[in-house]
Order: sequence, then C-alpha cells, then structure tokens
Amino acid sequence: MAPMAGISDIVFRTLIREMGAQAVVSELISAEGLIRGGEKTRDLMRFAESERPVGIQIFGSSVASMVQAARIVESEGADFVDVNFGCPVKKVVCDGAGAAWLKDPIKLGELLSAMKSALRIPLTIKVRTGWDENSINVSQVVQVAAQCGVSWVAIHGRTRAQGYSGLADWELIRQVAIHSPIPIIGNGDIITAPQAVSRIQNGYAHAVMIGRGALKNPWIFQQIAGIEPDFDFLRLIERHFELAIEYRGKFRAFLTLKKFMAWYAAGYPGASAFRASLFQADDIDALKTIALDYFSRVNYRPKTDDGQPFLMGGHG
Ligand SMILES: Cc1cc2nc3c(=O)[nH]c(=O)nc-3n(C[C@H](O)[C@H](O)[C@H](O)COP(=O)(O)O)c2cc1C
Repeated sequence: MAPMAGISDIVFRTLIREMGAQAVVSELISAEGLIRGGEKTRDLMRFAESERPVGIQIFGSSVASMVQAARIVESEGADFVDVNFGCPVKKVVCDGAGAAWLKDPIKLGELLSAMKSALRIPLTIKVRTGWDENSINVSQVVQVAAQCGVSWVAIHGRTRAQGYSGLADWELIRQVAIHSPIPIIGNGDIITAPQAVSRIQNGYAHAVMIGRGALKNPWIFQQIAGIEPDFDFLRLIERHFELAIEYRGKFRAFLTLKKFMAWYAAGYPGASAFRASLFQADDIDALKTIALDYFSRVNYRPKTDDGQPFLMGGHG
C-alpha cells in the first residue's frame, strides 16, 4: 500500500496488511521532527509487529538530518527506510525537501550514499517522474539510486508540476522498469485488481503500489493475490473500529473513523445522505451504529473510475 498522510497510520496499515497487502509504509515523517523527538512525530513512527514488513518514510532537505533520522528509524526496528522524493506540497519543496530533490540528481545521489552507508536495513525511495514536463528525469534518478545501493524505487507516474491532475504515465514507468537494474514499483491510478495484475504481467513494473484504490476497494490486495474476498463490509467495519480503538482510544478513533466511513461509501447509493448522517453522531458507538446500518444495505460492487475527483492532493 502507498504511503498516505493522514490515512496510512498504524491502524489502517494493520487493517490493510490483514486484508492482504504485501508491504506497508508510513506516511512522510519530518527528519527534523524525528530528531527533536516530539511526541506527535514519534506517534507517527509507531507500528505494530503484525505490520511487518513495514517501512518508515522520511523527508527533509539536509543530508546530516536525513542520515540521523534514518538511524533513528533503524533503531526503532523498522524493516526499511523509505525516502520521500515525491511530495509536491509548496511548503515542503520550498524548503528543498520532497520532490525538490529531483531537480538535482547529483545531490540526491550524495544524500542516498550517505544514508546507505549509515544503515543496515534496506533503503528505498519514492519519486515522481520529474519536476515538470520539461525535466522528466526519472530514469536518471533510478540509475543514481541503483548505484547508491537503494533496494527499490516506487514511481508515482506524474511530475511534481502535475500534482494529481491528468493520468499517471505508465508507459514511462514501463520504459524505466525495462532498463532498471533494481525493482521498480509502479504507482498511480490503480483501482481494480485486473489493472494491477496486468501492469505486472505486461512488464510495466515489478510490483505495484496502491494508494487511493485501497480506500475505494480495501479487498483489492486479496484479489490481486488471487484470493476471492468475502466483500463483507460489516466485518471490515467491525475490524476497523476494533483496531482504531485499540491503537487510538475511543475519542481519537471516533474522529478518524468518520472520514474512513465516508471514503468507503463513496460511489454507493445514498452515500451523500450517509456522509451527512455521520456528522450527527456524538460518539463512537453512535457512529458505529450508523455505519453498520448503512453498510448492511450496501451491496458490494467493484468500483471503476467514475470520473469523480477522489482525494486529489497528497504528499507524494
Ligand atoms: C491523501 C494523500 C496523502 C499522501 N501522502 C503521501 C505521503 O505521505 N508520502 C508519499 O510518498 N506519498 C503520499 N501520497 C501519494 C500516494 O502515495 C500515491 O503516490 C498517489 O496517491 C498516487 O497513487 P494512487 O493513485 O494509487 O493513489 C499521498 C496521496 C494522498 C491522496
């Protein structure tokens, strides 16, 4: 599953691992924040044993801080360190972090070499295809990463300038994957299992990474693995509530579960009335009653791209 800020936390990652994803990654975490050791940042880094293999994604602009943060991630027991070279958000790139690194592959290589020599666990990266359409340099970035000993490159097939508009350029991902000495994980716009399987079988990438599709169809990972899911919304929701309460406590779980329930419902009949009713719930028990009532009436049908904008912004 792709890293998604505000979504792929310990709760949702654990759930999605149980639902068949082969590996999970945390949302982007600031290297400077990790070094300062504030409670909020440490909380973002928390993971459960059952999530393994789990990576922690870090971002930053200073080589020294990124090396130090990577060491912290390793000492906390993560399975791999992932670097965010894809975040398009202004505040992040203006600071020289995220996708800003793509503008200077030589400097990017110096960063990766320094991090690699400080680590025993694998180092992975997640990139965009380039800064903008005039500077598409993902194949060069992949070659640099391979020389530095990076274990895989996940490519979100859009430039930084594109944000979330247009479609991911899978033809470009395929060209890079064919020539890459290291595994390429293709990412962007996959929402059905047949799409994912055909990307791999037709040589577009060695593996795929799925972000928004995990919210649209949480069973997608089982389907990709050839397991026929039960499509049982009630079981999914019971388990999501259970994990959220276990890791977050009832109050924080209440706040975060509302948005997940709304995402799960997207595209099903009565979804907008359901969304409105979620905000009438005063506590987690009321929320669960409303959600179970709605989903007991929803017949699962696989979602295809309905052309509706769905989470058109993020950190990678
Ligand atoms: C809400 C949201 C938050 C995101 N946060 C991150 C992040 O923290 N790190 C990252 O590398 N990518 C982040 N992304 C980008 C996704 O990992 C992924 O590259 C992108 O959504 C395209 O894949 P998809 O079409 O399968 O969703 C985020 C995307 C969204 C929608």
